[in-house]
Amino acid sequence: MKAIILSGGKGTRLRPLTYSGAKQLVPVANKPILFYCIENIVEAGIKDVGMIISPETGQEIKDATGDGSRWGINIQYITQDVPGGLAHAIKTARDFLADSAFVMYLGDNLIGTGIDKFIDEFKRNMPEALILLKEVDNPKQFGVADVSPEGRVLRLIEKPEVPPSNLALVGIYIFSPKIHEAIERIKPSTRGELEITDAIQELINMGCSVESFVLDMWWLDTGKKDDMLTANAIVLDKWLKGNINGQVDNTSRILGRVAVGKGSVIKESTIRGPVVIGENTVIENSFIGPHTSIGNKVNIIRSSVEHSVIMDESELRNIERLEESLVGRRVKITENRKTHKALRLMLGDDSVVEV
Ligand code: G1P
Repeated sequence: MKAIILSGGKGTRLRPLTYSGAKQLVPVANKPILFYCIENIVEAGIKDVGMIISPETGQEIKDATGDGSRWGINIQYITQDVPGGLAHAIKTARDFLADSAFVMYLGDNLIGTGIDKFIDEFKRNMPEALILLKEVDNPKQFGVADVSPEGRVLRLIEKPEVPPSNLALVGIYIFSPKIHEAIERIKPSTRGELEITDAIQELINMGCSVESFVLDMWWLDTGKKDDMLTANAIVLDKWLKGNINGQVDNTSRILGRVAVGKGSVIKESTIRGPVVIGENTVIENSFIGPHTSIGNKVNIIRSSVEHSVIMDESELRNIERLEESLVGRRVKITENRKTHKALRLMLGDDSVVEV
């Protein structure tokens, strides 16, 4: 069994963060989303991973993941020259995949479980495809499955106007090499992409067996700001282990599960977990509330932050209350309105500010 991880795309829904970086590297609980995918693949015992990258952000992904030796796997990079769709990505990886069965994992999908049981199920029953489904409130934004009462997949449609169910296709799929034949038979969709949903539908048309599994645990497609904050909150809730490696002075209070990285200093502050704080960060005279991730080399002075993600090297000074915010790298937020009631902003394209 091999795996391909899709780490291309433009990340339009996460702009402006994705102007300067790949969406798969945006951190959730201080770890890039992509690393959660890799860890799930490693735990399932897969050693050969093809990382599909785009010309725009490929180098950044390579710098972050290297040759895979850190995880004891081999990562081979495969450039998809155009954003031609998920089935096109498989086509691009054809030589790497050869005649192997494989997992396709979208590098911005997070699920609350490992994938070993799905691989075991696939090996036991040997279908041509095994797909994961999850009930969602907004099926129009996904690939959607029409499933018989016995759980047989009858039909799959990409982003339907009138969804036949609320079962969305999760971005983790397992295929036999038969999928290559199906991909050869499909045409680009109206958005101009070779859709994996259409290729799986083609397998069904060819009389092949397509198994489905409905997830009862959480799944997040981390496309937008609120999805990112939800993913961050869930991961902190479920997986964070309290661990203080930095310095906490005796006027500070640490409540609940809090992780503080090496070289970080907490002074005269209250941290109410679950909260993760990276390395070489300073928190002074501040309150950090639940579900907050703070990166490395961040300074938070006389401020209050809750349910937010603050990335590396950013600075907050005298901010009374920051909530539900996603703050990128090297951002400075300071208050100066005591003397002059004006906002002074320098914001990148597509920034969103509520004042
Ligand atoms: C893609 C698939 C869609 C699936 C989704 C899961 O959508 O085309 O079927 O439900 O991933 O994340 P896209 O992210 O390309 O809009």
